Amino acid sequence: MPVAVIVLAAGQSTRMNSDLPKVLHPVAAAPLLAHVLAAARGLDPDRTVVVVGHGGEAVAAAARAIDPEVAIVEQAEPRGTGHAVLAAAPALDGFEGDALVLYGDTPLVRTGTLQAMLAARAEGAAVVVLGFETEAPGGYGRLIVDEAGLAAIVEARDATPEQRAIRLCNSGLLAADAALLLDLLAGVEPDNAKGEYYLTDVVGLARAAGLHATAITCPEEETLGVNARTDLAAAEAAFQARARAEALANGTTLVDPGSVWFALDTVVGRDVVIEPNVFFGPGVTVESGALIHSFCHLTGCHISRGAEIGPFARLRPGAEIAEDARIGNFVEVKNSIVEEGAKVNHLSYIGDTRVGPRSNIGAGTITCNYDGFFKYRTEIGEQAFIGSNTSLVAPVTIGAGALVAAGSVITEDVAPGALAFARARQEGKPGLATKFRERLRALKAARTAPKAPEKAGA
Ligand code: UD1
Ligand code: CA
Repeated sequence: MPVAVIVLAAGQSTRMNSDLPKVLHPVAAAPLLAHVLAAARGLDPDRTVVVVGHGGEAVAAAARAIDPEVAIVEQAEPRGTGHAVLAAAPALDGFEGDALVLYGDTPLVRTGTLQAMLAARAEGAAVVVLGFETEAPGGYGRLIVDEAGLAAIVEARDATPEQRAIRLCNSGLLAADAALLLDLLAGVEPDNAKGEYYLTDVVGLARAAGLHATAITCPEEETLGVNARTDLAAAEAAFQARARAEALANGTTLVDPGSVWFALDTVVGRDVVIEPNVFFGPGVTVESGALIHSFCHLTGCHISRGAEIGPFARLRPGAEIAEDARIGNFVEVKNSIVEEGAKVNHLSYIGDTRVGPRSNIGAGTITCNYDGFFKYRTEIGEQAFIGSNTSLVAPVTIGAGALVAAGSVITEDVAPGALAFARARQEGKPGLATKFRERLRALKAARTAPKAPEKAGA
């Protein structure tokens, strides 16, 4: 059955107390909306529609950046979840199949749970709601279940005390045939405490029309809705706990799992060892057998099999670390390829550079890639040796097998196999240190000698 995913992201989010739209707040270095779209992508939907609020340009732009194929519709006024789904109608034109309604502020739902909702649809329920059991039903909608299935959803503020005692709650996620859903929504009235068009009312309307509605459940954690910053922190913690558990299950060693922070899209292979206090920003892939020492900050980089990183390394976007390469302590790499077996072991900045296979970059080497206006590239050939404390002023090329003397400031290309020396030549003066020291010692003695006693009567 074809699936159209509708993500509601138009609501006001006053409780976040923020200038940033709620669904753009990050969990695991990705906006909440990206989490929801990632879960939806696992269904391979035929259409994905994001409902944004009036002036939702930032949300629309973020949605397109995450998935260029999403359709954006605007709900001019936030008049309720049902009203928001109706706003998506134009984007469903000509679509036949199931509509699956997700919330932009409910980031932890799993693809498998969404599949279970669609499976319940396929088994014949006209409307499928995702519910969860909770000890703290608070402001959630309550699921009213009878022998015929799901009878209705009652919002907490519209519920009787008996209904409020129900612990089976509405996650908000709902699946139904798309055309049927829009038909049912046309009959929804804003006759409730908030004066809104509730999506949840379609359940009662479906039942009144003689259709079968049902609820399936998932763990409460998956339904966590972010309404305030405390929820955001809780979502981050829940995501990290899940990501750490998955990494361990997939064969990654985390010496101290609680101190490793993953991003939504982090990919870590088998037999990778990650020491304590490592942070993954977006876009990192670590291949099998790599070793990440403590205190590394990794973003937008690719670490190949057998490479060793850190401690205290920073890999920035475009850092490509090839097999068995070594990036050591206090080394920053940006937009550079460090090829197989190459070593940048201490205190370096490598930017816009190719470091050839098995080259050795000495301690304190800096690629000077920026003149304040433009960026330039540095090319270092295979098995070159760059002496410590060298500045490579780009654009510059160091040939294969070349050797650069320590302390050089290299402004011109170095030919393959050549030795480059770009610092003042050392001079030696035999005995001069000893003479110099003797002179100073004598001077100091003269200055600190006790003064002659003053003459009487003077
Ligand atoms: C909703 C459900 C409630 C459920 C809870 C789960 C309804 C009537 N209530 O309540 O049963 O337990 O979610 O978290 O559906 N939105 C729009 N446009 C609007 C209103 C909301 O796009 O006009 C979006 C919001 O951005 C959000 C989602 O819909 O992503 C939920 O809206 P929210 O106002 O948070 O609903 P709740 O009151 O929490
Ligand atoms: Ca909510």
